[in-house]
Amino acid sequence: MNINWYPGHMKKAMESIMKNLALVDIAYEVIDSRIPRSSRNPEIDNILGGKPKIIIMNKSDLADEEANIIWRNYFQKQGYRAVIVDSTGNRGIDDIVKLSNRLVGKKTERSGSGGSENRSMRAIIIGIPNVGKSTLINNLSRRKGARTGNKPGITRANQWINVKGNLQLLDTPGILWPKFQDEEVGLNLAFTGAIKDEILDIENLALNLIDRIKNISKRYLQERYDIDIENKSPYEIIEIIGRKRGCLIQGGRVDLSRTSGIILDEYRKGLIGRITLELPEGRDVY
Ligand code: G4P
Repeated sequence: MNINWYPGHMKKAMESIMKNLALVDIAYEVIDSRIPRSSRNPEIDNILGGKPKIIIMNKSDLADEEANIIWRNYFQKQGYRAVIVDSTGNRGIDDIVKLSNRLVGKKTERSGSGGSENRSMRAIIIGIPNVGKSTLINNLSRRKGARTGNKPGITRANQWINVKGNLQLLDTPGILWPKFQDEEVGLNLAFTGAIKDEILDIENLALNLIDRIKNISKRYLQERYDIDIENKSPYEIIEIIGRKRGCLIQGGRVDLSRTSGIILDEYRKGLIGRITLELPEGRDVY
């Protein structure tokens, strides 16, 4: 697999996260609800070292609603706090603020006169690329808007954003590298666009995606493309979709590459359906 993260990159990312973690009271680990396992870096808990954390199940609007609940319950059973969020559609944002207040409680700092005064709770957003970290920061910052000036001890690029509910958010997210535990994780990351189309050629990726979606439920492809997929191979399905969409090349053959691009794009936008690609261990249907 051709991956952009090298040990040097990881070390740098890690150092930056550690430095910023020291400044906050709570971390928000953003993941993609369509691939809650594959979009997590399994080392996150070691990295956080006991710092309070909320798992933000972002892009929930693109994932199956029942599967969202299954995953949230699963995380809760494991002792995590998890919130189902749609950062573009505004769902779950207030829950993050409320839960943070409950988890962190009041914070004080030394005042100029030597006493102590209440201060805002401080948070950082962390996650692998493309899970929606910036979108969530923008959404949270719209809630209040005001950015505060630099504070001592913070690199000049970092600023705090005041969010309602006595919360201050670091405007720079911590970027974690995706972890390719196995081939399936790599494929899931590629299907959702978390890594760009670099691990497989686009046609192979689309063939694999069609196969996965078909196994989850036949109705998604049938309804989106108005085709009968019974007894058809992924290759045949791509051909039919290509013909229907007029993706043809010389000689009337289907342009497989263009058709594959369309299918991947439509999955990523949720147009084929709200399809969650993986479930907690031991479950295979939702
Ligand atoms: P990052 O900082 O973690 O790298 O992610 P970013 O916010 O840039 O979001 C990546 C893409 O995901 C963006 O799409 C963004 O609009 C989309 N996105 C983020 N949160 C949600 C969500 O809750 N629901 C949905 N449906 N989409 C979300 P984009 O601008 O089209 O980027 P691209 O990936 O097409 O380049």
